[in-house]
Amino acid sequence: MDLGLKGKVAVVTGGSRGLGFYSARAMAAEGARLAICARGEEGLAAAAEVLRGDGAAEVLTVRCDIAEEGGAAELVDAVREQYGALDVLVNNVGGNRRGRFEETSDEDWLDIIQLNVLSGFRAARLAIPLMREGGGGSIVFVSSVFGREKGGPGLSIYNTTKTALISAAGIMALELAKDGIRVNCVAPGSIQFPGGSWDKRVKADPDGMRAFVRANLPLERFGRGEEVGDVVAFLASERASLITGACLAVDGGQGRSLV
Ligand SMILES: NC(=O)c1ccc[n+]([C@@H]2O[C@H](COP(=O)([O-])OP(=O)(O)OC[C@H]3O[C@@H](n4cnc5c(N)ncnc54)[C@H](OP(=O)(O)O)[C@@H]3O)[C@@H](O)[C@H]2O)c1
Repeated sequence: MDLGLKGKVAVVTGGSRGLGFYSARAMAAEGARLAICARGEEGLAAAAEVLRGDGAAEVLTVRCDIAEEGGAAELVDAVREQYGALDVLVNNVGGNRRGRFEETSDEDWLDIIQLNVLSGFRAARLAIPLMREGGGGSIVFVSSVFGREKGGPGLSIYNTTKTALISAAGIMALELAKDGIRVNCVAPGSIQFPGGSWDKRVKADPDGMRAFVRANLPLERFGRGEEVGDVVAFLASERASLITGACLAVDGGQGRSLV
């Protein structure tokens, strides 16, 4: 299936490794022109080399901390300067800070709200005018299975921020439909890729992780980065033209939510 992404400008936050990288790679394979950001210069350079080696049309790397107030502007300004357009924004950066709710501090909450929520909101606010100029676009937030249902003790901050993305994306979809801008979320389950958090846990505790997989993952395996990247690329594309305000679970049945 040709996704029709050829020549489109696709921006991925946190695109130097992990799910952001797999999303960028899936869109590059469709001929999109890319911009990826991360804090680490080396990771960005290595990712760009792989993407170019795969035949990516163009790859712009932007070193910025997207959790900082000016981070999104640095990214979008660089994209405007390089491409003069922005068609797809994948808000992928996110993290976790575990802790029992009563032990969490305001600082913990504010840090992760900046990282998981405001980073993407700021980037979206800056990207929307460029998408409008181009006649439309697609925004994808990377939420989580734990944005759709209770993740368990110790996850109040992660759960709340990932749920916030789904909620806001739904309202943004209503507001931006008339501009031809679709807004959706993906909710990955447990995804293993080299160097990722699940990979580290598997290496540290293989037996425990085997038991985790048996108990929680109906397909009896972790998800793969490519399986998330492909869904992001689909949502980014016109092939998903009737999908807006949705949250697609990419979790192999891990989630138990009815909606
Ligand atoms: N992996 C999973 O199983 C899973 C499951 C559900 C949801 N998710 C969600 O998927 C997203 C990606 O997760 P991942 O596991 O792929 O993460 P990851 O492997 O840790 O990759 C994170 C990427 O974001 C960049 N990054 C981190 N903080 C940044 C910042 N402040 N500013 C700019 N770039 C930043 C990193 O590069 P630098 O370190 O160089 O900045 C890297 O490119 C997150 O939102 C996560 O919550 C992941």
